[in-house]
Amino acid sequence: MEPFSAVDVIRAKRDGLRLPDDQIAWVVDAYTRGAVADEQMSALAMAIFLNGMDATETARWTEAMVSSGETLSLDVDRPTVDKHSTGGVGDKITLPLAPLVAACGAAVPQLSGRGLGHTGGTLDKLESIPGWRAQLTLPEIRAQLADVGAVVCAATEGLAPADRKLYALRDVTGTVESIPLIASSIMSKKIAEGAGALVLDVKFGSGAFMKTEPDARALAKALVDIGVAAGLRTSALLTDMSVPLGRAVGNALEVAESVEVLRGGGPSDVVDLTLALAREMLALAGLSDVDPAGVLSSGAAYETWSRMIRAQGGDPEVPLPTPTHTHLVTASESGVVSHLDAYAVGVAAWRLGAGRARKEDPVQAAAGILCHRKPGEPVAAGDTILELHTDTPEAIPAALSALDGAYAIGDSAPERRPLVLDTIRG
Ligand code: URA
Repeated sequence: MEPFSAVDVIRAKRDGLRLPDDQIAWVVDAYTRGAVADEQMSALAMAIFLNGMDATETARWTEAMVSSGETLSLDVDRPTVDKHSTGGVGDKITLPLAPLVAACGAAVPQLSGRGLGHTGGTLDKLESIPGWRAQLTLPEIRAQLADVGAVVCAATEGLAPADRKLYALRDVTGTVESIPLIASSIMSKKIAEGAGALVLDVKFGSGAFMKTEPDARALAKALVDIGVAAGLRTSALLTDMSVPLGRAVGNALEVAESVEVLRGGGPSDVVDLTLALAREMLALAGLSDVDPAGVLSSGAAYETWSRMIRAQGGDPEVPLPTPTHTHLVTASESGVVSHLDAYAVGVAAWRLGAGRARKEDPVQAAAGILCHRKPGEPVAAGDTILELHTDTPEAIPAALSALDGAYAIGDSAPERRPLVLDTIRG
């Protein structure tokens, strides 16, 4: 006999009431066990979408999702700290960041996902490295954390199963875009992962999940509040995602750009964001006296990257896959690039084969876009602005139509916008 009725819980939220702790714990658990049906959870998710949950309800909802599965105990003798990005176009920051922060003395367990839609997934990017494998067991994760200090791998099946079930349901019921549901979904997986501290990169702009800065700020605050309520040292950077990050968008292209950064080069926005996130992670890990810029330029982060890739079966020295076809988009006039839209570039890269439309679709390692010119850079008529890569040339017209109006050339450079707008600390 169940202690509550799903219909009563749905009615309470439908009528705008606060859900008590015990009802939240029950409904999440009962849904995971199958005692609350999909149609009942759909109605509850829609009631939450419409009427919200306050900070305490959201913290309890998250706790219930964490309790639906296993919590990893990482057992390492260095401070553990993780980073999560809400996703963006060209957002390869995990690749240089995890080995950099490990080279600074912390342990970085980064359980990641695959891409869906116009933003790429970290695992898809790393899988473009020949031999690299995403699936590790918990003992392998622990051993690699102790030995190398950084692990980027697929989340184990047992982490927050309630979230997996609920996220799939939200996806088909128009209830994804709810701040309490997004925040509890992200944080349940991160809390279950067992790191001691977490830095969130919450993005806003056309290429981000949250299109406006106020929405991103509200999500950042909800995420930090959940972390603090769960005893996790948490902070969030609010960052601009209106323009692609770096010049490379697409799996192997982003790995190559990350390696440039790890070797001391790379685009300045990628370097700056990597260092900003590294500083915040090190501060939360109690290592604020370590200078990540010095560690990056010393080559120690590249060394850790090589060990991290080898530990998971990859060969960091083997050339990355190249595409069978390229197509250049050139400037029709001279001037300064005044605009390059992240969302359009993300959709075009996805159509070229870098991303997937359905969870089970494969991705092309070599597909993507190189942005030869970014906002503020001069361009002469005939210069290449974008270089399209694909193994499926029949996809090029669809990619070009996504890029229609995606960039503009003007007389002067646009105003420079700060990449990191704010930091929200718990
Ligand atoms: N990412 C997640 O993990 N969950 C959401 O609800 C949205 C984005």
